[in-house]
Amino acid sequence: MRSVFCGQVNESHIGEEITLCGWVNRRRDLGAVIFVDMRDREGLVQVVFDPDLPQVLDVANTLRNEFCIQVKGKVRARPESQVNKDMATGAVEVLGLELNILNKSAPLPIDFNQENSEENRLKYRYLDLRRPEMTERLRFRAKVTAAVRKSLENQGFMDIETPILTAATPEGARDYLVPSRTHKGSFFALPQSPQLFKQLLMMSGMERYYQIVKCFRDEDLRADRQPEFTQIDIETSFMTAEQVQDVTETMIRELFQELLNVDLGKFPHMSYHEAMTRFGSDKPDLRNPLEIVDVADILKDVEFKVFNGPANDPKGRVAVICVPGAADKLSRKNIDEYGKFVGIYGAKGLAWLKVNDIDAGMDGIQSPILKFLPEAAVSELLTRTNASSGDIIFFGADNYTVVTEALGALRLKLGEDLGMVSDEWKPLWVVDFPMFEEVDGHLHALHHPFTAPTNMSAEQLRANPTTALSNAYDMVLNGVELGGGSVRIHDQEMQATVFNILGISDDEAKEKFGFLLEALRYGTPPHAGLAFGLDRLVMLMTGATSIRDVMAFPKTTTAACPLTNAPGQANPEQLVELGIAKISKDSE
Ligand code: AMO
Ligand code: AMP
Repeated sequence: MRSVFCGQVNESHIGEEITLCGWVNRRRDLGAVIFVDMRDREGLVQVVFDPDLPQVLDVANTLRNEFCIQVKGKVRARPESQVNKDMATGAVEVLGLELNILNKSAPLPIDFNQENSEENRLKYRYLDLRRPEMTERLRFRAKVTAAVRKSLENQGFMDIETPILTAATPEGARDYLVPSRTHKGSFFALPQSPQLFKQLLMMSGMERYYQIVKCFRDEDLRADRQPEFTQIDIETSFMTAEQVQDVTETMIRELFQELLNVDLGKFPHMSYHEAMTRFGSDKPDLRNPLEIVDVADILKDVEFKVFNGPANDPKGRVAVICVPGAADKLSRKNIDEYGKFVGIYGAKGLAWLKVNDIDAGMDGIQSPILKFLPEAAVSELLTRTNASSGDIIFFGADNYTVVTEALGALRLKLGEDLGMVSDEWKPLWVVDFPMFEEVDGHLHALHHPFTAPTNMSAEQLRANPTTALSNAYDMVLNGVELGGGSVRIHDQEMQATVFNILGISDDEAKEKFGFLLEALRYGTPPHAGLAFGLDRLVMLMTGATSIRDVMAFPKTTTAACPLTNAPGQANPEQLVELGIAKISKDSE
């Protein structure tokens, strides 16, 4: 039906007769002549209908925005004065010789010329995707997956599919369940990741597996989280953690080079401990220059309970953030707002100190808690934080978690509000995670329960679970966790020990993961892998602010689809067939 895309008509076509198919982006009626900007996937071109062909002009008169049309026409150069440098096809136009209306369009329920509500954009997603910006993001996403496949295929990785109807996989979220008709009362779970299957594939001797695969997690949604998302999932045999990092880092570096012409360089490594201490996050945004500085030793003897309490408590933390040049920029009102903000993370206050004149001793310092701070402590604080005149210092004092999370979040917010975040790419590997974290007296796996500890026997792990480090690694880019992986346990005793430490009884382990424990008996090779969040990767690479903008049909923040109205009601016969009865809302 077409000979060339609208967006690809250029000077080489001048004098040729071409056939275009696409949509009316805009029609301008100049009386005798009608101009139509015609759009397809590749872009826009100007079509002119003039009075020399009155029948064609009559049809052109009936065109409205978003009609789907076919045009046969002759390409000609635009007069010099009408060349449009902002348009890829702006040097040419097409004189319409034949016009076919393939389909009319009702006025669109969304307006391309203004901001539309997210709900409306998702309800009419197929129209929202007509916007060039959206089309471009999907095209870019397709380029990323093509490049990922090429890179991994070249390195000997095999694309192998794994089941979607499966048993629960513990990645820390709730499962989406699917009832079984043939096994009434039983449920499949949709995979939170293909973790166990990819490990089993290593036991099968596949050596290098990859899959671009949908994962499902029922969790609270955020800008970088969707209930249904895509992983670039990778697993290898006989490779160390460093080798897996090398392969995957090379892949990401090549992607950025090829698609964005950006050299990410070699990625630095940072321990989890250092990331938490300096940045209050296990995914530090290194574009932000602010750092958290520990000062418990300086404040442990001051006569201010808020500080000396946590400073003398092994589980406490007293730390500060020094914000260069912000003393004048932040009003009392601003500071009060930051105080409320850190409250979200459990902080009970946000003490501050302005360095008005560093050379004027205590006279140059302004702070509501100055009376509690001896001159020597202030002087040490200023030295430790490298403060100068015009800086403001914020304090956090509480237990370790509250201070770390509150100052970690404050650091990001201040950096953003004060425009301190640089415009660069800052990748890094975060490594040396603890194996377990304690939540409400229970130990949880920080990565997942199949992650191997670093250099430790099962016996040593059993003796010191809370101090053990895992052989896990996260790839972080600009404060976003792009991917995470680990060396896996390939030894039955170690796996059983980890289940045990996590409080999974032998019976439960057998019931849920019996197949894995069994498989570990038959010559399992050492193996390791990693999974990237494809949506997050494309979000970062395209500069989108939400992963919803790089997915064709995402869900809302309440995990629903306004387009199809999913999730919806099942009809009563289906429920009977599945052996499922609904309970009333009251009895939930
Ligand atoms: P993990 O749970 O860290 O590891 O997930 C890997 C990557 O997937 C992305 N991701 C998400 N993206 C969008 N929405 C979500 N809800 C979501 N959850 C995770 C992140 C994350 O880094 N099986 C392990 C990997 C392994 O050990 O090989 C796993 O799934 O970018
Ligand atoms: P108060 O003694 O409660 O009036 O607090 C004096 C100053 O210390 C105020 O600026 C509070 O915001 C601040 N503050 C109180 N508790 C904390 C805390 N846990 N961490 C940091 N600052 C605090």
